[in-house]
Amino acid sequence: MYALNRVPSGIVGLDDMTEGGFPFPSVMLLAGSAGTGKTTFAQKFLFAGADSGERCLYLTTLSEPTQWMLRFASQFEFVDKRHFGTTIKYCDMGQMIRDGDAEKILNFIDERVAETMAQRVVIDPITVVGDFLKSSYRVFLFDLVNRLKNWQAVTLLTGEVKPGELYPPEVAYAADGVIVLYMSEEDGARRKYIEVVKLRGTNHVTGKFSYDITRKEGIMILKSKF
Ligand SMILES: Nc1ncnc2c1ncn2[C@@H]1O[C@H](COP(=O)(O)OP(=O)(O)OP(=O)(O)O)[C@@H](O)[C@H]1O
Ligand SMILES: [Mg+2]
Repeated sequence: MYALNRVPSGIVGLDDMTEGGFPFPSVMLLAGSAGTGKTTFAQKFLFAGADSGERCLYLTTLSEPTQWMLRFASQFEFVDKRHFGTTIKYCDMGQMIRDGDAEKILNFIDERVAETMAQRVVIDPITVVGDFLKSSYRVFLFDLVNRLKNWQAVTLLTGEVKPGELYPPEVAYAADGVIVLYMSEEDGARRKYIEVVKLRGTNHVTGKFSYDITRKEGIMILKSKF
């Protein structure tokens, strides 16, 4: 049996739970409701890769000006500004997604990955595409994951969840791995939890772990299980 190649996630404490990181290549889903830290996680994943010389690509689906993204990221101490636009390329897909043409979106992503030769790719959030594609969304996801697997890259798709859901099921089926961020109200305090729900080829830790969002590390997993 061959050992899977792994890349470090960049998230403090996470690789201990996943036999050393994300399988390479793979497509991962990071799911969570608003404000749980998906974008923070994604930025840390990219900057950790960029720090070790990997080419990275961040695709946003939200029509947010790239400038805004850079301002968001700049608040974190782990961010080395020299990576902006060089080791990490930023690209806004908002308008293209509004047009609702699945094939065009797939080709666009393919072209960006090809021209950057990215080893780490983020699409944040992928679920917005579902709002515009409607009935062709499932086929789109299937095609997207298959295309991404042809590239030598780890792709992180972030997914917004509906109330009562832990993750968007249609993305979770297609992905090689699923990590969930969620908050729960306990003793009047909001606590944040992370859980590795699925990771193909990996004997990952199960159950929920507390995590914190800090200026220094972005997201970090706390050692205690609760
Ligand atoms: N410097 C910081 N220190 C502590 N917490 C922070 C810091 N910066 C941001 N946060 C927390 O992180 C949250 C935002 O995280 P982020 O934008 O990554 O979430 P998200 O899941 O991408 O949200 P959305 O679904 O809205 O895109 C904020 O709501 C805030 O609680
Ligand atoms: Mg976000």
